[in-house]
Amino acid sequence: MKMLRFLCFAALTLLAACKQESATTTAPPDPKADPHSFAQPNLAVAKHLELNLKVDFDQKILTGTAAWTIENPGKVNEIIFDTDNLDIQKITIGKDEKEATYFLVAPDSVLGSALRVEIEPTTPKGQTDLVTIYYSTKPDAAALGWMEPSMTFGKKLPFLFTQGQAILTRSWIPCQDSPGNRFTYNANIEVPVGMMAVMSAENPQQTSPDGKYSFKMDKPIAPYLVALAVGDIAFKPISERTGVYAEPAMLDNVAWEFADMEKMVKTAESLYGPYEWGRFDVIVLPSGFPFGGMENPKLTFATPTVVTGDRSLVSLVAHELAHSWSGNLVTNATWNDFWMNEGFTVYFERRIMEAIYGKEYTEMLAQLEYWELLEEVESMGENNPDSHLKGNLAGRNPDDGVGNIAYQKGSLFLVMLEQLTDLPKWDAFLKSWFDTNKFTSKTTEDFLDFLKENYLKKYNVTANVDEWVYGPGLPANLPKPVSSKLANAEKAAQNIANALPDTTGWTPHEWVHFVRSLPANSDAATLKKLDAQFKLTTSGNAEIRYSWYDVAIRRGYVKEILPAVDAFLVKVGRRRFLMPVYTALKETGHVQDARRIFEKAKGGYHAVSRNSIEELLK
Ligand code: BES
Ligand code: ZN
Repeated sequence: MKMLRFLCFAALTLLAACKQESATTTAPPDPKADPHSFAQPNLAVAKHLELNLKVDFDQKILTGTAAWTIENPGKVNEIIFDTDNLDIQKITIGKDEKEATYFLVAPDSVLGSALRVEIEPTTPKGQTDLVTIYYSTKPDAAALGWMEPSMTFGKKLPFLFTQGQAILTRSWIPCQDSPGNRFTYNANIEVPVGMMAVMSAENPQQTSPDGKYSFKMDKPIAPYLVALAVGDIAFKPISERTGVYAEPAMLDNVAWEFADMEKMVKTAESLYGPYEWGRFDVIVLPSGFPFGGMENPKLTFATPTVVTGDRSLVSLVAHELAHSWSGNLVTNATWNDFWMNEGFTVYFERRIMEAIYGKEYTEMLAQLEYWELLEEVESMGENNPDSHLKGNLAGRNPDDGVGNIAYQKGSLFLVMLEQLTDLPKWDAFLKSWFDTNKFTSKTTEDFLDFLKENYLKKYNVTANVDEWVYGPGLPANLPKPVSSKLANAEKAAQNIANALPDTTGWTPHEWVHFVRSLPANSDAATLKKLDAQFKLTTSGNAEIRYSWYDVAIRRGYVKEILPAVDAFLVKVGRRRFLMPVYTALKETGHVQDARRIFEKAKGGYHAVSRNSIEELLK
């Protein structure tokens, strides 16, 4: 048998030996190389994936094959894939499935293991054009959220969802896992009869009788955008090209909540050009989903915590939709360019929200996040390189770059640029950026070149671009959102010792700001009175609830609310809510409670949330 499994247990010296033993490549390393991927797609590149997987809920594994159509411009004798914690059984090359020699290099703690497969650079029949990897995932694969029936809405069937961003796809599909790299895919997924499978692809709208589903994504996408969800799922249309998926018992509520989806798509198209992905659907997942939303192409994944019954958190849908341009159409080339995905998207989200829901409402959203940005920048300290827009994440987990710098400083950078001319000029410029670069991945420098040529020079304006992108903190020409509604809520909070506020007509955003503005010296008795009146501890809105817990715990109002905090932390898996509450418990001498709750809750958390909290509480 030709298979050779190479496991280097001791770290660096042996690793070097591994490298020497493996096939050699002569071309120099790509100067644009992604520090979070072992692949060298400039030499040998995987262009199309045929994925065949069977979903086993009992063992919590996926088993099957990933067959990659490859090209070999470097005429090299190996192709490198990223993997993390995969169980590889066999690899073949060519359509005749000749067994291949491969090396699985010892894992790096952040990046996983490089998988080096020997290929034929030139044969009488030509180059190797197909690499088929037979494999299974492990039960603790980082991308996979295996939810027990008790963690679902219906409590009858289990649920599985994947989360690929930033570098987790490699834990369920061996792939060249860099956002600078794009491929098309088809998939055949087999699930237990009675369940539906959906992907970031053309999707079924009905449960199949035999549990078999086929998918097709014929536009080239980045690896972090391959996604799968399996469970008791049903579909309801909103318009011709938009609709929602959810567990049957919540489907109608979800459809009501997101009734404006078509309006959002039309608005987005009127700004930055046609929606290129065919359908735009949203699936609402079990509450263990670690994010608010994830922009998987054609099918956004969303947390159930945005289904509030009052449509107050639909900006999340606008945000994920906006990624259909900034992120999915034009993608950050590496995770150091992450601000180009999120900063553009927050900017675009606000434009969509303003067009549909008005200026006052949108300013409220912008103002809240502006304050979050100020707070974060302050806590980072002066001259912290992590406050540059252009990231420096080599050697670290790209998760470290997820924060208000990329999102809010990034979006305000674009607002600053917008204000240099006028909306028609700026919008035409942005539209041409998307149009010129669609279905490609771009670096920060690519954007800055384009900006200088097609905007700054063209309209004869200047800006401190380098300070914004490569400098720390917040430049002096930072645009500052202002919301009079939030200013009122803030006044009410400052006056809390004297009077309970008149909260008629308050949106959850005003509530959130009110709660966050409660004076640092307000005592437990005042908070208790407030709580008795407004039932904040059991609010149906998770944004209010986590903000309130954070504030209440820090002001000593803990004992009474701990059972509700406990229930919230067990039920909800969204990291943005969990982290502040666990942090508040830890920092106020309640770390034992935090650990006890975490032990109980962690089985229901996705690895993304679990790892962050584990780190916090250790
Ligand atoms: N793409 C992000 C989520 C993400 C970022 C996952 C980085 C993994 C790594 C998504 O578009 C997002 O920003 N979600 C936000 C909600 C949004 C309304 C700001 C979230 O989940 O909180
Ligand atoms: Zn986003």
